[in-house]
Amino acid sequence: MADETRGAAGGTCLIVHPVLQVFHKGDSQISSGRDSASMISEISGLAEAIHLDILDVVSCNVRKISAGHFLGKGVREDVVALVEEFDPTVIIVNAALSPVQQRNLEIEWKSKVIDRTGLILEIFGKRAQTREGKMQVELAALSYQRSRLVRSWTHLERQRGGAGFMGGPGETQIELDRRIIDDKITSLKLQLEQVRKNRDLQRRSRERVPFPVVALVGYTNAGKSTLFNTLTGADVFAEDLLFATLDPTMRRLKMPGGRDVILSDTVGFISDLPTHLIAAFRATLEQVQYADVILHVRDISSPETEDQRLDVISILKDLGIDYDVDPRVVEVFNKIDLLDRDQGFGAWLRDPEMRGRQVPVSAVSGEGLDVLLSVIEATMMGSQTEMVITIDASNGKAFSWLHRHASILERQDDESCEKVHLRVSIEDGEYQKYLGLFSGQSIS
Ligand code: GTP
Repeated sequence: MADETRGAAGGTCLIVHPVLQVFHKGDSQISSGRDSASMISEISGLAEAIHLDILDVVSCNVRKISAGHFLGKGVREDVVALVEEFDPTVIIVNAALSPVQQRNLEIEWKSKVIDRTGLILEIFGKRAQTREGKMQVELAALSYQRSRLVRSWTHLERQRGGAGFMGGPGETQIELDRRIIDDKITSLKLQLEQVRKNRDLQRRSRERVPFPVVALVGYTNAGKSTLFNTLTGADVFAEDLLFATLDPTMRRLKMPGGRDVILSDTVGFISDLPTHLIAAFRATLEQVQYADVILHVRDISSPETEDQRLDVISILKDLGIDYDVDPRVVEVFNKIDLLDRDQGFGAWLRDPEMRGRQVPVSAVSGEGLDVLLSVIEATMMGSQTEMVITIDASNGKAFSWLHRHASILERQDDESCEKVHLRVSIEDGEYQKYLGLFSGQSIS
């Protein structure tokens, strides 16, 4: 299915951008929060990411969402006229449509219609590289299809026309589709579990490699791949398309102090990621939890940079990373070459206060990368903390892990010989890893 999705990319599109005007009981108007122009630019970027040529963008105010069509009559008629003029391959509505709304709009406009989730799924389907990534996207796409089972852009019609599945007596097309999808979901989940088990094994063996991991995270188009390439000299593909990266990519990087680290690139974040996709993509970010340094790459030249920062913080929080206090986090203020230094930015750049957890760089010109490398090194050293960790005497795994990753200063066995109290000196990053691996243990 992912291949069909991929085949469907390309062509032309119209974008309909509804601006929601929500009224509360009082008289104050709550708008959608984000600035319309940047939301349009984001959805346009997403469309371009699957090589759709944008014919026109229709922006409209929606004061009351129509249950049947989402959009009001006036704008629907405007779109009909545009469809007659341009004959687009697909119409993208920058909102979350219900299956009925999507179907009704398709009938009225005599065109394929996808909403924001549908579009993001198309992109993810195109970008997935590893087997696990592809499976996760397929799973997300299947549950999305199942939830609407009316008609989606590409998938079901092909399935119907294709393999000639036979339903039981009296089975309607939709029931048949649902059954086929359920079977596929079940088998995919089983396969995914197997792939994950293998990956856990791989991760465990990687943990024995004494290389600290530096993970790049950040909003889509922030410049992660560019930074990754500049730092490692590797030719991972960076392009001016959103979601140039889906699955983590890893490369070895030699630090100025001589130490080797693994630099790990991850999928870009996006605002209002539909719920279906959050679970699928959290899994691709799992390795961030075990990273020694988390580089949050920000496009500091974007007017949306603060909102984007909050989105990233909230997803990291879902992964158990407490952004404000986690000592592994470093913010990389990327694209400083695009900023106007005459307006005080130059002084800010030279401010030594900035050089703690926030490092201004340009991944393109290379400015600031030397400082970044030394901040990474300092973060890796981390601050050693002394603490007592209590483990079950029978937990050989935790014991030998601590031996390899911390200095054990003192050992005290319980009278019952069931528990062992270890006074250890451990780096903060290693301690976070320990919690991730053996969080059931008590710590004092
Ligand atoms: P996703 O893969 O979508 O998550 O994006 P990404 O964060 O990996 O971004 P990528 O490296 O693909 O960069 C996106 C665009 O920003 C490309 O056109 C880059 O050339 C550009 N870019 C990245 N870093 C800089 C920079 O420091 N300055 C300028 N001017 N452009 C940059």
